[in-house]
Amino acid sequence: MRMILVGPPGAGKGTQAAALVDRFKIPHISTGDMLRAAVAEGTELGKQADGFMKSGALVPDEVVIGMTIERIAKPDCASGFMLDGFPRTRPQAEALDQALTKAGVALDTVVLIEVADELIVERITGRRSDPETGAIYHLKFKPAPPEIAGRLIQRKDDTAEACKARLEKYHSETAPIIPFYENKGILRRVDGVGTPAEVTQRMATTLADLS
Ligand code: AP5
Repeated sequence: MRMILVGPPGAGKGTQAAALVDRFKIPHISTGDMLRAAVAEGTELGKQADGFMKSGALVPDEVVIGMTIERIAKPDCASGFMLDGFPRTRPQAEALDQALTKAGVALDTVVLIEVADELIVERITGRRSDPETGAIYHLKFKPAPPEIAGRLIQRKDDTAEACKARLEKYHSETAPIIPFYENKGILRRVDGVGTPAEVTQRMATTLADLS
């Protein structure tokens, strides 16, 4: 199973990915997580990415494409993967297409999680994550158990200001890749409004024919 999760910032891609990787037994490849790890480790890649990420801008294609194509060529992706946060621009979508064609494989599906802009800011500014497990919580919508709550951290780009910039980038750079996958006949749309469990149920229904 080769799939992509796409949607605006805070749509619930990371939240839903957890259930999907369990079901399909494929690695979850989040370019945001990879870039944050590089920033934390202080690698050359992390130094290049940090400023872009903090302000809510996109990291340049030439940095992200190589990193992601290299990652999906690893042995654990031989029978599939779930990409989260990539592609985010038309050049990234085309580079992925070329890499998959060269490898003689194809995408099975692209799932678009749809959430209106008005709901995004509250989701983003209330997000917290557990640095030990990577689990995602929300102060209001998914509170962490008391024994974990004290160690939660907030992402540097989860401010109202950076969120606005991220939404603008989503609409100008990422939304235009949706017709690219719609024209290939592999796009599936899922309503991302409702509780996380309700969205998980909708995902299961939408993907029921895939194994
Ligand atoms: P990335 O980490 O990919 O961030 P994003 O796409 O903005 O997505 P998020 O992680 O913010 O949201 P999500 O959809 O995963 O939502 P989540 O499940 O956490 O990228 C970060 C940055 O890295 C980019 O801005 C860019 O700079 C760079 N980057 C990454 N990839 C790149 C690329 N390909 N090219 C260039 N640059 C790149 O949920 C959000 C919150 O809402 C959580 O608190 C959650 O608990 C809550 N929640 C989830 N579902 C629900 C629900 N149904 N109801 C209520 N609350 C919910």
